Amino acid sequence: MTKRIGIIVGSIRTGSYTRSFAEAVANMFGEGYETEFIEIENLPFYNEGHDDDEDRPDVYNEFRDTLARMDGFVFATPEYNRSIPGVLKNAIDVGSRPYGESKWNKPSYIVSVSPGDLGGFGANHHLRQVLVILDTPLVQQPETYVRNATAFLDEDGKVTNPEMLALLQSGVDALENLISRYDQK
Ligand code: FNR
Repeated sequence: MTKRIGIIVGSIRTGSYTRSFAEAVANMFGEGYETEFIEIENLPFYNEGHDDDEDRPDVYNEFRDTLARMDGFVFATPEYNRSIPGVLKNAIDVGSRPYGESKWNKPSYIVSVSPGDLGGFGANHHLRQVLVILDTPLVQQPETYVRNATAFLDEDGKVTNPEMLALLQSGVDALENLISRYDQK
């Protein structure tokens, strides 16, 4: 059975560096895997009341159904003020509810990306904190903090640096390994 990987990008900026790294990762999965970018830009701010009444936005249902079809996730995120962008937190909140119906309990791999020197370490670990309560099995190694992101991109915005591609490939391999171990449970 084909395994489906949902790719979530924490930046909605046109020309996002983070998306470039997510695209590189999306192309690295082996035979038997399919990847799908799951867009988060159009999700309204999560309102718990909407899950109790007829006002539940259709896009919440569609988003949750999409998440439910996945066997694993890649979270590629920039860092905003040493945390994850609000748009990503909102998407995680929407996918975590209604209570008891979270869709995030699937093996996942985090890539944080920054044009600065710290590689989005704060965002990476804030995201880990959030995913603990959601019982998301996470790739622990390799930790993937992409610093000086633009140095790894060519003029078309593609990741072509061999060392960076090797790091990302080892993260993808670790996620595939985690998914196969998770399947045996
Ligand atoms: C940033 N940026 C940033 N970078 C960083 O390394 N640590 C940080 O805490 C922050 N904080 C921050 C806050 C806000 C509100 C913005 C808009 C930006 C800079 C950020 O890394 C840069 O804008 C990246 O280009 C964002 O990623 P994308 O959109 O290129 O994927």
